[in-house]
Amino acid sequence: MKPFPDDVRFVGPLRPQRFEATVEDCIVEGEIPKDLYGGFYRTSPTFKRHKKQPGYGMMASDRMVQGLILENGQATYRNRWVRTPKYMLEEAHGEGLFEWHDAWPDYRGETITPVRGNGSVTDGVPAGSNTVNAVPYYAKTGNVVLACNEILNVPIALDPMTLETLGPIACAGQMVKGYCGEPTFTAHPKWDPETGVIFGATSGEEAPYVTVQAIHPDGTVKSKAIENEPFRTSIHDIWLTKDHVAVPYTGWHYDSENAKAGGAPMHWKPENGVTIALVPRDLESPVKWIKSDFPGEYILHTLSANTSDNKITLNGPVYKQPPFGFDQFNQVGSPYIPLYAANNGHWVCDLDSGTLSSEVFDDRPCEFPKIDERFFGKPYQHGFMLGGDTLYMLDTLIHYNVRSGEEKRLRIVDPEEHDKPVGLAEPVFVPRHASAAEGDGYMLLPVSWFTDHLSEYWLLDTEDITQGPIAKVKMPFQMGWSTHGHWMDFANVPGKN
Ligand SMILES: [Fe+2]
Repeated sequence: MKPFPDDVRFVGPLRPQRFEATVEDCIVEGEIPKDLYGGFYRTSPTFKRHKKQPGYGMMASDRMVQGLILENGQATYRNRWVRTPKYMLEEAHGEGLFEWHDAWPDYRGETITPVRGNGSVTDGVPAGSNTVNAVPYYAKTGNVVLACNEILNVPIALDPMTLETLGPIACAGQMVKGYCGEPTFTAHPKWDPETGVIFGATSGEEAPYVTVQAIHPDGTVKSKAIENEPFRTSIHDIWLTKDHVAVPYTGWHYDSENAKAGGAPMHWKPENGVTIALVPRDLESPVKWIKSDFPGEYILHTLSANTSDNKITLNGPVYKQPPFGFDQFNQVGSPYIPLYAANNGHWVCDLDSGTLSSEVFDDRPCEFPKIDERFFGKPYQHGFMLGGDTLYMLDTLIHYNVRSGEEKRLRIVDPEEHDKPVGLAEPVFVPRHASAAEGDGYMLLPVSWFTDHLSEYWLLDTEDITQGPIAKVKMPFQMGWSTHGHWMDFANVPGKN
């Protein structure tokens, strides 16, 4: 393979990991508690080969999943390409075969601009091969990791131990189709810890725009297309409450027709404000609509939700504007410069008045919110996220209590070279043990010392993250950056306890 060109998308912490590796019994500084038994799986759109044209958007990307398995105080790392039809075809030819619909090396090329194949060689092979999340699915037929996204491709099942590609999820035929015509589930599922049912929302380009889906452990999928929508929107993330799936209708949406006409693949219409669709978990009862009394805002990633006094509080980093490129703020030919960052905040649904209010608590950027995922859909207080000077320089782990407002921060620094650049990826919460209280456990944080081309996983006790890591798992190379990931607990399986 040839080296990638000098491009901002391939440097620093974003440098693609173009190889597969297995590191058994990794070098560990400190101690990993011996009773932690599970895997931390994470993924991101990435690239193995050059594309046919200079754009490198998500539709032309490959899928790679990285897994760190903890067992008996030891750590084993693997990363594997997901064997999609596109990947296998390009592997057979030894080159990238898909190219942009148009060669747009500017703000329009950052996301899902349509790609076209390379003549008859690629006919019938889905082009979009993006994946943004690695999700545990505790199916009755066996536990798998799902590599999935919200609008493009079918979820692919992987073996949790080997990361071998098993193929599309067995229940794919029951799912709605996304932008590429493939069955699609969601980028950000939320699951019921008691039943193992996974909820997600996907969106398309024709009304009804949003469909909520629920995958059951027995492999059945139930879905509800949301009727009477206030406006067109696209969905990236949702909240789960005891009674509802909370779906945010914002002024952000994909538009492939606009992209084909030479514009951006996304729109931002702040005049639409925000409306929350409260979809009952049974996916049958009527939807309740909650409308904002503030100008357009956006939450890309959700923390979780609490309900009290007939109010539902939806936590998450709040943007005044989504951190993407839009036609109204960029000129054709100019690169996209992401100026917008999110701040820790919440939206509150008043179920009596049917109105939505907004509040932001902090003026410092944050992203990648995470909770103790045993508490999806339940009352909770412990939130974790990354912070930094800008959205693209996240160097701090934050532990935020949504009830008390108490916050602890740990800036990640090299012990000997304090100003060494660092790149953090989304962490995950690991419970101390099966019956541990909410938030009692560890954060497992991918740390990239990209100027050294080395990486680590830091394990931090949530009792006080400011004490620093209790263990560092050392990688002998720079791991690929990842967008999202989750912990799969091998000892304590949702719905089977
Ligand atoms: Fe995401």
